[in-house]
Amino acid sequence: MKTILAKVDLSQPDSAEVIQTAAKILQEGGLVAFPTETVYGLGGNGLDSAACEKIYLAKGRPSDNPLILHISEFEELNPIVGEISPAAKKLMDAFWPGPLTMVFPKSEIVPEKATGGLDTVAVRFPSHPVARAIIRAAGLPIAAPSANSSGKPSPTSAKHVFDDMDGRIRLIIDGGESDVGLESTVISLVGEKPCILRPGGVTKAMLEEVIGPVDLAGSILRPLEKGEKALSPGMMYKHYSPDGQVTLIEGEESAVVEALRRLYTDADSEGHRACVMCFTEHVEALADCHPHDIGHKEDASEVAHRLFATLRDLDDEKMDVIFSEVVPPEGVGLAVMNRLGRAGAFRTVNAEEIIRI
Ligand code: TXA
Ligand code: MG
Repeated sequence: MKTILAKVDLSQPDSAEVIQTAAKILQEGGLVAFPTETVYGLGGNGLDSAACEKIYLAKGRPSDNPLILHISEFEELNPIVGEISPAAKKLMDAFWPGPLTMVFPKSEIVPEKATGGLDTVAVRFPSHPVARAIIRAAGLPIAAPSANSSGKPSPTSAKHVFDDMDGRIRLIIDGGESDVGLESTVISLVGEKPCILRPGGVTKAMLEEVIGPVDLAGSILRPLEKGEKALSPGMMYKHYSPDGQVTLIEGEESAVVEALRRLYTDADSEGHRACVMCFTEHVEALADCHPHDIGHKEDASEVAHRLFATLRDLDDEKMDVIFSEVVPPEGVGLAVMNRLGRAGAFRTVNAEEIIRI
């Protein structure tokens, strides 16, 4: 299959010819990758089992990991969900369109292929003008996981999508770099208490301001324990992984910089292709340690924005040993640490211990 890569003018997406082409492909059961404000999505008709099947195939994704259905107007929610709780209504008013996905009981028209056999459905109303234009033009709820091959970091540019999906889908729409850079926050509203299944740009504090206390799924900052059931099936799988081994370095700032230097030097002298992922403030001090700048120390949103692109760069450079700084797991930092932790299988060392050796 030939994959077409097409740019679209963000100021007038509705009139772009390629949006009509995308809509037609989707209506015919084909797949189109498109930009959203979080990461790029791999879209197909969310009401068509065969199209959902194609998504799983193109990604190499296990078919019990459910998809998110994307809508472009509030009215499009009703037909695909069962009940809409008062809490869900409040969250929709506060955060849609935007980087929040909510899990509802599903309606009958949503095929089990889309929900991985679950009787619930995850729904998102993205704010990105191109995403909205495509969904609107197709006139369908669009099932769209992140447009990466399963196990790779999510794509934050059209090039990332092309690297993974060339030859597997018909069209990739280029709308520039994703703004947030990490996938949406997923909150379940079907249990007794609302529960964040995946942290993202809409933080726990922001959600609690609107609906009161919410739980955090246990496995956000650690691997699943043996036999533990994932609330969100996506949590079961190896995720966001570069090819190299990532180790996270915790501790006081100057100790972390010193530990990064020592770990890099040892790995380098052992013949590894090694590097460090460090804050902008430390790039100069670590100039001879192959530094990758992940953004400013106090700016978790910047780190979020850059993280996946950095992990992909490390693969392109064939790095096999990677040492990274960490951010406090609060606010957007929780989402960063959830992804970074999984990239490194939560392998963490304390800087002071490294220095003492
Ligand atoms: O930002 C995003 O959400 C991006 C863009 C493209 O919209 N999409 C995305 O989709 O990240 P995906 O498929 O890569 O991640 C969806 C996550 C998975 O962890 C999945 O297990 C969970 O949402 N999920 C989907 N439906 C669910 C359901 N019914 N119950 C619980 N978790 C669900
Ligand atoms: Mg994904």
